[in-house]
Amino acid sequence: MPTLKFAVLPGDYIGPEVMTEALRVLDHVAAREKLTLSYQVADVGGAGIDRHGKALPDSTLALCRESDAILFGSVGGPKWEKLPPKEQPERAALLPLRKAFNLFANIRPGLLYKDLVDASPLKAERIPDGIDIVCIRELTGGIYFGQPKTTTTLDNGEQQAVDTMVYKTSEIERIAEVAAVTARARGRRVCSVDKANVLETSVLWRKTVTAYFAAKHPDLELTHMYVDNAAMQLARNPNQFDVLFTENMFGDILSDEMAVICGSLGMMSSASLGTGLNSFGKPFGLYEPAGGTAPDIAGKGIANPCAQILSGALMLRYSFGLDAVATKIEAAVRKVVTVDGVRTGDIAFGRPTVGTKGMADAIIAAL
Ligand code: IPM
Ligand code: MN
Repeated sequence: MPTLKFAVLPGDYIGPEVMTEALRVLDHVAAREKLTLSYQVADVGGAGIDRHGKALPDSTLALCRESDAILFGSVGGPKWEKLPPKEQPERAALLPLRKAFNLFANIRPGLLYKDLVDASPLKAERIPDGIDIVCIRELTGGIYFGQPKTTTTLDNGEQQAVDTMVYKTSEIERIAEVAAVTARARGRRVCSVDKANVLETSVLWRKTVTAYFAAKHPDLELTHMYVDNAAMQLARNPNQFDVLFTENMFGDILSDEMAVICGSLGMMSSASLGTGLNSFGKPFGLYEPAGGTAPDIAGKGIANPCAQILSGALMLRYSFGLDAVATKIEAAVRKVVTVDGVRTGDIAFGRPTVGTKGMADAIIAAL
């Protein structure tokens, strides 16, 4: 019986509430599938700051290093907003984790069930069958990490800040491979997004991606789009994309745009895969919902746990190689929300609502 060892970092506000339910679903699935779960919970984000003086405490990082994957909740909120930007929970927890584990590949499914089209700000006639795309974002390169990154005072007394956007061929090729593998399992189409009319890094990106696909994946359809146009096209007709593939900062922006057109943030999961392999010979990864800590509804037991549960499914698929089990969880969430019409407040649209626990109960029943 394989033992799945993962670190659980619930974080702040609704983070622990939805994590509790996701763990309940995972425990249930493990019992049915004869899997042994071995997980330990640790503080991160604001909880890390409050209890250990650091958004990513050393003990938490050590636990992650001993694990095969990280199931992450959400971090940050008003309580820590006055801290300097570099110490804010989001930045001081997530960026070092990405760096420590080389989490270079961020995969965000942009999935909106047909039954939930009302949750999208797009007109229903533009997305009659919902939305089904994926965004692949490079996560450890580009302007987020490039050096120099400084603020200096000029001779005339004014301040000047510099961020540096850097990409190497090898960094572009490894994320291109993730985009290709993802597309191969879906609609076989990749749209690479850049700003090659202005940026040197984008010129190299486009050239490298073109050569890589020609050499390794000639049977996949590869197109290129400038990022400003991609932002418009997402809002016009998101389903023209299959796999949307881009560098770190463009991906930060486009994946949030994608999340909002897909309706409730409470449904959006994500995977961040590292370069290293875990003891299963699979990528070490961090799995987190895209919705944030929702301080306004924290403590009420009404947050939608689906994104956290679906992130758990992604963990089973990518870091433990349990694709069929992951698919069962995804199918159960889909059935409960669409066929059974079980809804938390964020996706209710006038229907009766259940709370965080009620939604998880329904998913467990469906499983
Ligand atoms: C995200 C977040 C992070 C990012 C922040 C919190 C550092 O916005 O995961 O998209 O910009 O990457
Ligand atoms: Mn973001």
